[in-house]
Amino acid sequence: MEKAKFRAKITALGCYTPPGVLTNQDLEKMVDTSDEWIMQRVGIRERHIADADVATSDLAVEAAKLALEQRGIKATELDAIIVCTVTPDMLFPSTACLVQDRLGAKGAWGFDLVAACSGFVYGLTTAAHFVSSGSHKKVLVIGADTMSRIIDYTDRSTCVLFGDGAGAMLVEPTEDGETGFIDFNNEVDGSGGDALKQPAGGSRMPATLETVRDRMHFVKQDGAQVFKYATRKMYETSRDLLERNNFAVSDVSVMIPHQANRRIISGAAERLGISCDKVSINIDRFGNTTAATIPLATREALECGKLKKGDLVLFAAVGAGYTVGTNLWRWEY
Ligand code: ACO
Repeated sequence: MEKAKFRAKITALGCYTPPGVLTNQDLEKMVDTSDEWIMQRVGIRERHIADADVATSDLAVEAAKLALEQRGIKATELDAIIVCTVTPDMLFPSTACLVQDRLGAKGAWGFDLVAACSGFVYGLTTAAHFVSSGSHKKVLVIGADTMSRIIDYTDRSTCVLFGDGAGAMLVEPTEDGETGFIDFNNEVDGSGGDALKQPAGGSRMPATLETVRDRMHFVKQDGAQVFKYATRKMYETSRDLLERNNFAVSDVSVMIPHQANRRIISGAAERLGISCDKVSINIDRFGNTTAATIPLATREALECGKLKKGDLVLFAAVGAGYTVGTNLWRWEY
């Protein structure tokens, strides 16, 4: 196969979480749960929740503006905007169209990418290929979810897990001597579709009085199945991606995993043989923000000095579908 003529790198990161915070103590008043159970079984202490009048595009626009500001470019310079989300403002127009308009990104096309918790990794994979082909110079990948809108706050098995947030990364061509995007290993296993879903609101089960009464527009999940699949797949796909690129696990500077459950992250990291200090974890303060966890955990790694220019970064995620996504990048800023 002919080698790509261009290479892609990540050049900016912007993150936004709404100011409202829902703590475990707040949840103790809403359902039969405890701070101790949530901390032990999941590792979340609090999560950010958007106000009632704030939607996914609002979070996405804030994150996008911060990424553009960091890079010092105008929205009119963007070629494409990919919004990874399972909580679009509405089914159509896409959230990408709303964001494009709000940013004034007049030269950009774009679309929403639905891959649940693997969304951001799929978005990065897509942007890397757009840039590597030479057809795009500036692609903005946004992961944004307002999970609080589709969570049943009477169901203790799901309502403790999720939060709201957004993160954006800009993908551009590398300069001479830079590496940027190296490879990806993404998978879908649709046989796992029933384990985690929002049953109503689509063409299979359109909204009716009955679907609302039966709470079918909320997230339904078989937590134990998802847990087992996520732990195994996060490990296997990361291992295979490293192996086929001739990297040892010790070559990885930092692993940035999707933040669903602290035990999923530590289980996968342990099997991979990567030490805890090389794994970015911020689930305690944000919970599972679905498509936003990877950029939020990247910001964490940058801020605490875990991630630096020249580092080898492994992004890894598993989500509803099932979807699985792993990416290897050399961090270039
Ligand atoms: N507080 C107190 N008790 C609870 C709570 C809660 N919030 N939630 C469930 N329990 C109870 C259950 O009712 C059950 O009680 P029982 O034994 O009397 O029936 C008991 O705790 C154990 O339940 P399990 O479901 O077996 O608990 P488990 O240890 O599997 O933890 C959890 C549940 C946290 C949901 C876990 O399975 C998990 O994290 N799964 C992954 C799901 C996930 O993260 N999905 C997000 C999207 S997909 C992704 O990101 C990978």
